[in-house]
Amino acid sequence: MIRILAIETSCDETAFALVTAQGSLADPVFKIEKSVISSQAALHAEWGGVVPNIAKREHIKNLPLIFEKSFRPLIAKSQGVDLLAVTVGPGLEPCLWTGVNFAEQIRKDLEKMNPEMKVAGVNHLEGHLYSFLASKKTGISKIFPAVGLIVSGGHTILLIMESLAKWQKIGETRDDAAGETFDKVARLLKLPYPGGPLIENLARDGNPKAIAFPRPMLNHKNYDFSFSGLKTAVLYYLQKNPARSADDVAASFQAAVIETLAGKTFRAAEEFQTRSIILAGGVAANRELRQTLNREARRKKMNFFAPPAQLNTDNAAMIAVAAYINFLKKESLPIQPQANLTV
Ligand code: KG4
Ligand code: ZN
Repeated sequence: MIRILAIETSCDETAFALVTAQGSLADPVFKIEKSVISSQAALHAEWGGVVPNIAKREHIKNLPLIFEKSFRPLIAKSQGVDLLAVTVGPGLEPCLWTGVNFAEQIRKDLEKMNPEMKVAGVNHLEGHLYSFLASKKTGISKIFPAVGLIVSGGHTILLIMESLAKWQKIGETRDDAAGETFDKVARLLKLPYPGGPLIENLARDGNPKAIAFPRPMLNHKNYDFSFSGLKTAVLYYLQKNPARSADDVAASFQAAVIETLAGKTFRAAEEFQTRSIILAGGVAANRELRQTLNREARRKKMNFFAPPAQLNTDNAAMIAVAAYINFLKKESLPIQPQANLTV
């Protein structure tokens, strides 16, 4: 069993987690001892998106506060940790630096408690991808091969996973990410950042069939996505129909995104004969998306996995989980920010 302290600061959440991990790549088991997420969303809301320098300033303020109050006492009690993990990318470069610098700052103290402690850089996207493992209760023998769909504020990626250790990207967005599109359409509807959850709320009272928005690239014979045209379609629609209820616009827009994501995901599942669908990233918090993928997976006799509620959007528990998988694979990234890292 190893104890992992993870730090996440790639965007506008300052997060720490202390996670114990054990088991092999064939059956890793995790226990989240403590997870703290300090969201700056309210600060960025008035700007309509994350302002990197405000985010950086807040991380610098929050990192020592959270660590000293909630983690140092816990760690001291157990004589340190075995692995210190920190997100090195992708993300906003000034924000990534704050996490990396803080890890370097506490490293010496932690090494005094455990001289054997290792330090590892973690890919944020791998964190999302593996986040479903944090709450998994059973073995993983029936999961692979699987289609992985990462839908966050910065990325929309489709992967085929042969195992936890081996996967290949088969498609991604050519312009806006799914979460970014939710946020931009929210702005068109005069809603604050982050707009995803607010659109989901509005959509609950609307008719998803009210407006026929495009399903971009759904019928293209590849696994790429493109969402900027959908956002423009909503813009033009609102210009022509300013009195239209926001509920119907939100529901019809959300239906277009979900149908597009689900269409490509299940086409990949069929082509690659997978046993499961794994959903991850901030947009995985969307209940309509989860239910649609879950329903379709059952119909096709496939399993569906998604992270538990608190682990969809950015958090550090998922960074600890990815750090453990990489530890088992004997891989790690240097402690150096890489804003454009991918999977
Ligand atoms: O993964 P995440 O926390 O940060 C990135 O790594 O980008 O994802 C944040 C994104 C935002 O665009 C946010 O609007 C979206 O996830 N999001 C949602 C929902 N909750 C968060 N989108 C749709 N429905 C939701 N319920
Ligand atoms: Zn994220």
